[in-house]
Amino acid sequence: MKIVFFGAGNMASAIFTGMIEKGIVKPEDIYITSKSNRVAAMEFKEALGVNVSYDDAELCKDADYIVLASKPQNFSDVAKRIRPYLEKKTKLISVMAGIHIATIQEEAGMENAVARIMPNTNAMVQYSVNGIAFSDDFDNRDELIDLMASFGKNVVVGEDGMDNITAATGSGPAFLYYIYEQYAKSLEELGFSKEDADKLTRNLVIGTGKTLSERPESFEKLRTDITSKAGTTEAGLDTLSESKLQEIIFETLGSARDRSIKLSER
Ligand SMILES: NC(=O)c1ccc[n+]([C@@H]2O[C@H](COP(=O)([O-])OP(=O)(O)OC[C@H]3O[C@@H](n4cnc5c(N)ncnc54)[C@H](OP(=O)(O)O)[C@@H]3O)[C@@H](O)[C@H]2O)c1
Repeated sequence: MKIVFFGAGNMASAIFTGMIEKGIVKPEDIYITSKSNRVAAMEFKEALGVNVSYDDAELCKDADYIVLASKPQNFSDVAKRIRPYLEKKTKLISVMAGIHIATIQEEAGMENAVARIMPNTNAMVQYSVNGIAFSDDFDNRDELIDLMASFGKNVVVGEDGMDNITAATGSGPAFLYYIYEQYAKSLEELGFSKEDADKLTRNLVIGTGKTLSERPESFEKLRTDITSKAGTTEAGLDTLSESKLQEIIFETLGSARDRSIKLSER
């Protein structure tokens, strides 16, 4: 298999590192290229054993997948690099936010199957949640789904679901960080030092995440299991449930989704 990454930045490196570390592809199957930062690309070659090339004909020759991993504003330059050499069998995988399948095909290769993927920053720790949308002509979808399972959990959506995924899990880590930030600030208000508030919040989140990864019960069941009648947790939850938290979260996701739709208009 030959997988070529146009872009060797945060997202691309998280993806190819995950694939190599999980042993799902060999380092020699991966080719990377960047725009001008050759030092960063060479560091990946030294650390992981991937190939680095700036010869576009060599990069595109016999490629099974070309991953478009530049910023969206650099896509036209990337398309110019690959278009002359792109083979029909090569599938294009875009991580670029907001660029539609039709635009990718128009600019890069009309005859090529395309998948848009939306990972999140947790790909860096191989714990991403990935949305995937396929073009109609994309065959052997399971192969890509398996490759992506090396750095996260996958949800397949139609292209019209990509804006919701962008809001829900692309931006999701930032929304959760904001909530943890408020939690830590409240601990400070209770009297903990800033350092202890950070330590307590961080480990509360990590521990709860670990529990979630090990226990398949619903969120509600996990909550009710630790809520005794007339206890402290119930007293806190009474206050929490009176707030319009779900409404606020829904509106937050709606704003992010609307912005994603707006940014996709080209
Ligand atoms: N970060 C996230 O959470 C996240 C989540 C989902 C999707 N995404 C998407 O992932 C994409 C990449 O984001 P990132 O954070 O990884 O960006 P980044 O770290 O800035 O990396 C961008 C890479 O693209 C390369 N590049 C630019 N122009 C190029 C060209 N003409 N040919 C080849 N390579 C070129 C850059 O090379 P140089 O360094 O040489 O300039 C760099 O290696 C974006 O489209 C973003 O929408 C990001």
